[in-house]
Amino acid sequence: MNSGARETFVQTAADGTEFCRLTLDDVPAMLAIEQVSYSHPWSEGVLGDCFSDQYEVWGLVQQGQLLGYAIILWQFEEVHLLNLCVAPTHRGFGLGRRLLRYVIARSLLRPCEQILLEVRASNREAYRLYLSEGFEEVGLRKGYYPAPGGREDARVMVLKHPVG
Ligand SMILES: CC(C)(COP(=O)(O)OP(=O)(O)OC[C@H]1O[C@@H](n2cnc3c(N)ncnc32)[C@H](O)[C@@H]1OP(=O)(O)O)[C@@H](O)C(=O)NCCC(=O)NCCS
Repeated sequence: MNSGARETFVQTAADGTEFCRLTLDDVPAMLAIEQVSYSHPWSEGVLGDCFSDQYEVWGLVQQGQLLGYAIILWQFEEVHLLNLCVAPTHRGFGLGRRLLRYVIARSLLRPCEQILLEVRASNREAYRLYLSEGFEEVGLRKGYYPAPGGREDARVMVLKHPVG
């Protein structure tokens, strides 16, 4: 588990946003975004569990304020994108795409055959984003997500990296 000061990796010139490797200290800010973003948000405990081996939690931060985050899990030579979320007040300005591209760039730093993710069948915004970055829909997990009044399917999407 890691906690304490964030590590900053990239300073972007135009708007002062930075990519940071988040720590356990960021869980309250993540939770606040999570709770206004999803019908079934992750709990503080689930978010906290992501600060352990094999996970990477990246945030976009502006003047100390967390604007969005991405959580990935390394599983052998595959990256599983578990969560990608931008604060509602900051959506539509390209931050989600930047976070996703950062995840793709991270996945190229180690042997990685593909990035895998699940997205709610009703989540058109995220689906369009993933398609536009080269992800392909490869399957459906029936009733994967809890939903108001029942369950909802997940589309399974993959971005394959060139081999060799
Ligand atoms: C999905 C999400 C991360 C996108 O973040 P964002 O910062 O608003 O996205 P961007 O501004 O980078 O937009 C990237 C692309 O997403 C798609 N998109 C974003 N908002 C959209 C909307 N309201 N309607 C349709 N497509 C949309 C578009 O393809 C857009 O590209 P374009 O602007 O060239 O058309 C954000 O909506 C979010 O946090 N949603 C709640 C959490 C969530 O559902 N996460 C995904 C879990 S799988």
